[in-house]
Amino acid sequence: MTTYGSFPGTRPRRLRTSPVMRRMVAETRLHPADFILPAFVREGVAEPVPISSMPGVVQHTRDSLKKAAAEAVAAGISGIMLFGVPEESKKDGAGTAGTDPDGILQVALRDVRAEVGDDLLVMSDLCLDEFTDHGHCGVLDERGRVDNDATLERYAEMAQVQADAGAHVVGPSGMMDGQIGVIRDALDQIGRDDVAILAYTAKYASAFYGPFREAVGSSLQGDRRTYQQDPANLRESMRELELDLEEGADMVMVKPAGPYLDVLAKVADAVDVPVVAYQISGEYAMIEAAAEKGWIDRDKAILESLTGIRRAGARSILTYWATEVAQQLNSAR
Ligand code: PBG
Repeated sequence: MTTYGSFPGTRPRRLRTSPVMRRMVAETRLHPADFILPAFVREGVAEPVPISSMPGVVQHTRDSLKKAAAEAVAAGISGIMLFGVPEESKKDGAGTAGTDPDGILQVALRDVRAEVGDDLLVMSDLCLDEFTDHGHCGVLDERGRVDNDATLERYAEMAQVQADAGAHVVGPSGMMDGQIGVIRDALDQIGRDDVAILAYTAKYASAFYGPFREAVGSSLQGDRRTYQQDPANLRESMRELELDLEEGADMVMVKPAGPYLDVLAKVADAVDVPVVAYQISGEYAMIEAAAEKGWIDRDKAILESLTGIRRAGARSILTYWATEVAQQLNSAR
């Protein structure tokens, strides 16, 4: 470093002197269009049901979901990702409710499309776990293992039914081998080459999904470690990435986000398709819980967590704070 007399010749602090200076030199900005709201809709309830491990998030009724979608449009976010919570009695081994045109997810897709038209991207979780009585993301073979190829047939049908119900984008989250190719083919076969696939490419078997399991009333016994990735692995994500792109993924996702920023950065460096990150239920719950205890500044922690995810390379972020943060960004301008 050059010095002049006894003074530092270079002073990075000069660029941190005032809010307007910091704003000008900021390398990462958050914008309402960066966000996608994950939302739960529950069959057969008259009032929204709070999710105790996710304060501020509810299982929507059909009506309250439509309102949330309208709010999302007004806030200027880009999308809403829908998860269906069927009545307990409708769950079975094959997850039949997931492919029933009158199943809760399909009903909700139609409701939301009627509400928002093309002003918001309507996305659907493409996975069986919300609809199976055993809670796994696929169907089981006679020995109780998740049967990859039999599950692919279910996913193909799900993709078609979700497209018919109005999904602009489907989000396969089950981590079955070959799922992207099978889903692309199923959509193209019914002439729906317009429906995009947001592939959950690097999805880890994470303890941070805990609150989500409450959110969807999951009946899972055991874990998902035979299909979701081991948190210890990074190179494996690159292999999943290559396969998803080859099979026709339009966008790729890393999930969870916060504990996997290295994966996100590496994926973002490697591809030229949009990269999405999912800030999941446990990430949400941790900040809300610490804030409730008065241990951290809630709003600042939320923005910092999202800035970190954008900085690491995510083009878009799924977050349960999507609408709230967008509203805040709008009013700050
Ligand atoms: C599977 C799915 C899960 C989440 C999104 N899609 C749960 C899982 O894989 O166990 C988790 C999202 C979150 O925790 O916020 N359909």
